[in-house]
Amino acid sequence: MSRSSKKKSKKTGGAEAFEAYFSSVYADRWASIKTALHAEDLKVARRNRFFSDESELQKLLSEPGLGEPFQDESLQDCYEVTEDFDLSSFTTPMLPFYRMDPASILAAKALDVQTGEMVLDMCAAPGGKTLVLAEALNGTGTLVANELSPKRRFRLMSVIKRYVPAEIRKTIKITNKDAARFGMMKKRFHRILLDAPCSGERGVLQKQSDLASWKEKRTKSFAIKQYSLLSSAFLCLEPGGRIVYSTCSISPHENDGVIAKLHKRHAGRFKILPQDYGRGKATDYGWHFLPDDQGWGPIYIAVIEKNFEVGGPEAELKD
Ligand SMILES: C[S@@+](CC[C@H](N)C(=O)[O-])C[C@H]1O[C@@H](n2cnc3c(N)ncnc32)[C@H](O)[C@@H]1O
Repeated sequence: MSRSSKKKSKKTGGAEAFEAYFSSVYADRWASIKTALHAEDLKVARRNRFFSDESELQKLLSEPGLGEPFQDESLQDCYEVTEDFDLSSFTTPMLPFYRMDPASILAAKALDVQTGEMVLDMCAAPGGKTLVLAEALNGTGTLVANELSPKRRFRLMSVIKRYVPAEIRKTIKITNKDAARFGMMKKRFHRILLDAPCSGERGVLQKQSDLASWKEKRTKSFAIKQYSLLSSAFLCLEPGGRIVYSTCSISPHENDGVIAKLHKRHAGRFKILPQDYGRGKATDYGWHFLPDDQGWGPIYIAVIEKNFEVGGPEAELKD
């Protein structure tokens, strides 16, 4: 092999490995998933429930770019948007809409937060799902919104400030821990959202340098990190409590693979709750929205409920 073709193969090796790996996972469906990942991700405008000025809202609903409201019960308050929709054009002190993927909204809702609960959002920035959780608590209980990256935490703080009234903000604690450390602390939570850092293959495909250096090893190492975050969440979860584990990855290592490890380590201590959203598809342990199906996702969601008879972190760390 000539030096220049060696150089070329080094440059394209990642792309070939990526292609080979995901075509083996998704077979005939891979071509359509790949096309959808190259497209712009689909976002809807979700109404901010804390924005309570109905007459102002009616005026805003006639702004250009806002389309029809979604009919799905779980996506009430969501509107289709066109490229004319511009959040920066809203001059109200509190922002009336937040743009996010409809499947992300479903992930946050799958936590089924009840008023008065202690809720942890382990990896919270920029904060779209935090807002869904804050609305469910509506100023009761406590919401801990955690984010490790200082820059992204700053963004989280500004999102909370622009969408949540001051009175409700008093019940939200923004923290900056490595989420893998929560399991070692005494605090316990009724509900934990783990929207884990992941490979984000949409971004990989759209960035040549990331694609060129892609290796299956990379997604496996994300899975190791994700499992350490999930076991930390499991340790600080109240018996009877619930974890939603979600990623925007299409890699099985980072999705069902992580839940399979939890099964191996904590068999008999939790159950997986069934889900059905009428679109997307069930996997061994969770639910997967893939973007070739109406543009939603990729979002993987698994819902874990800890058994009542399981003790706290102390009991579990013993074995
Ligand atoms: C998928 S994003 C979260 C998106 C967010 N839940 C939302 O809906 O807007 C994952 C976040 O986890 C943060 N992160 C990565 N490792 C972390 C760790 N060990 N502890 C806490 N946060 C972490 C990243 O900086 C990133 O902001």
